[in-house]
Amino acid sequence: LGSTEAFGRPPEPNEFIVIPKSEIHCEKYAGSNHAAHCFIYAENNERVFDIYNPRASVLMQLRYDGYFGFPGGLIDADEDFVSAVNREMAEEMNLNTTKHSVNHDDHIISHWSEKKNLVLHFYKLKVNMIDLIEIERQASLARDYGTEVLGTVRVPLYTLGDHYRGFPVFLNHKFIGCSRDQLLAALSSLNILTPEEIQLALNANNRNK
Ligand code: GTP
Ligand code: MN
Ligand code: MN
Ligand code: MN
Ligand code: MN
Ligand code: MN
Repeated sequence: LGSTEAFGRPPEPNEFIVIPKSEIHCEKYAGSNHAAHCFIYAENNERVFDIYNPRASVLMQLRYDGYFGFPGGLIDADEDFVSAVNREMAEEMNLNTTKHSVNHDDHIISHWSEKKNLVLHFYKLKVNMIDLIEIERQASLARDYGTEVLGTVRVPLYTLGDHYRGFPVFLNHKFIGCSRDQLLAALSSLNILTPEEIQLALNANNRNK
């Protein structure tokens, strides 16, 4: 899995395309800008309002530009992807990276936009629910809170009885870069939602209620 076509629509020329794991360090991308972002999540099956199974608590952030995205950022000169994403999580979320950090094995997917000259790498960080709540608390004390980052949110992964409120509504927000594709790729590859559940949410999304 991993191409944008897997989620129901062919990529447009300006769009991000998935690059194979084996090619992320290729010479082809040496002249591009690179950024790395992270999917922080905890398994969570404790029902919301005694009804909806949240499946997992996944953290995203509201950015200074109004878009939703993941914590992370641009890779500095001579910095490796993993060091960059850990540094950015400390800056943007006040994450204690001596306790929680990503390594090369946590890579999920990478995308490339030729037009934007940008390669976007995506990692995962799995924590338990107690730690996730502490991470949320610490986020408001981050260096970049109030400037680059305007808040941390949990993604609603359940769908209400009207087949629209919940995850489909969330997917109708505006997302920076390819972060919407990253969200869907992570939910699918980590088996948090089934491909069928993702497709249902995308179909509901098309109704644009
Ligand atoms: P500065 O410290 O102000 O430079 O920002 P930053 O280093 O935190 O960079 P940022 O997180 O904005 O990421 C750099 C670029 O990557 C952005 O301009 C977007 O195009 C893109 N981007 C930002 N967030 C995400 C995300 O969650 N996913 C994806 N795929 N792209 C993102
Ligand atoms: Mn109320
Ligand atoms: Mn940043
Ligand atoms: Mn950032
Ligand atoms: Mn930065
Ligand atoms: Mn910054």
